[in-house]
Amino acid sequence: MTDFHTHILPGIDDGSQNLEETRRLLAQEMQQGVDCILATPHFYAGRDTEEHFFKKRERALAAVRETLAADEDIGWEMAHPSSPCSAGTLRDAERKASADADLKPTHKTRSRVLHTKEETVQAGGLPGRLEPAGGGHLPEPETTESSGAEKKTIPEIRAAAEVYYFPHMGEADILPRLCMEGGNLLLLEMPFVQWTESMYRDVERILRKQKLTVMLAHVERYWEFQRDKGVWNAVFDLPVYPQINAGSLLRFRSRGFVLKFLKAGHKVLLGSDCHHSEYRPVNLVAGREVIRKKLGEGTLKEMDLLGEELWEHAGK
Ligand SMILES: [Fe+2]
Repeated sequence: MTDFHTHILPGIDDGSQNLEETRRLLAQEMQQGVDCILATPHFYAGRDTEEHFFKKRERALAAVRETLAADEDIGWEMAHPSSPCSAGTLRDAERKASADADLKPTHKTRSRVLHTKEETVQAGGLPGRLEPAGGGHLPEPETTESSGAEKKTIPEIRAAAEVYYFPHMGEADILPRLCMEGGNLLLLEMPFVQWTESMYRDVERILRKQKLTVMLAHVERYWEFQRDKGVWNAVFDLPVYPQINAGSLLRFRSRGFVLKFLKAGHKVLLGSDCHHSEYRPVNLVAGREVIRKKLGEGTLKEMDLLGEELWEHAGK
């Protein structure tokens, strides 16, 4: 499972303010069975210099990766050679199979599995490095989907950005650098106003001229501003990927729109847009549960397959 929209990197925007908070968010991601995390700090052209943004992001990412790689405390080992970011049900089955198998390290794998405390202690490690600061326990899974009770996959994190729209961005040559590491997936935040034709043309240029893959951030948040639906419809006729915040499925006000949007056949990606472990936490499992109940397992499977496809192949 992939979280396509997070503010998990510490000290770079209005998301996590320090490494301890990042650890709490990472713990939530792991608890919910997230294998892949797109780190998408806000990027506002003109508000920050480009080099300053990239430097801050690099530093924050290195700190998070160092934390995850602190194997002397975590006690992880390389695990089964399955594809990361896999759908929850598939992953559960894989994990069950892995639990029964003799796991051996392999250089080909990218998923790492954090063993239970008992196993870790037996192996001589110190458990709990990624648990919430202050000795607190991780929250219980919100549904039965998370299978974190036995083994936790340490997620792969890739840098990206949540790029706020700016005029003529279709021509901006900075965009490829703001895409997902190793790919061409761009998370684009559109303005919270009536969309215009020039905005549409910019999105089109990003797609056609720059040949980037565009994921539109939290599409449910723009709808109320679109009195004239012409540009909205035109944008979604383009090959863009709408991203939905899981939290929008948990609020009555936005749930109706999101379910209707899904029923209309839009293929969406889910993100937590997490900023803080208490105030804006990782809530993918709860959001997925609403989709499962209202639209069925098939919708989730389609969403996960699309997520895997983009994570692995966007721009390659
Ligand atoms: Fe965001």
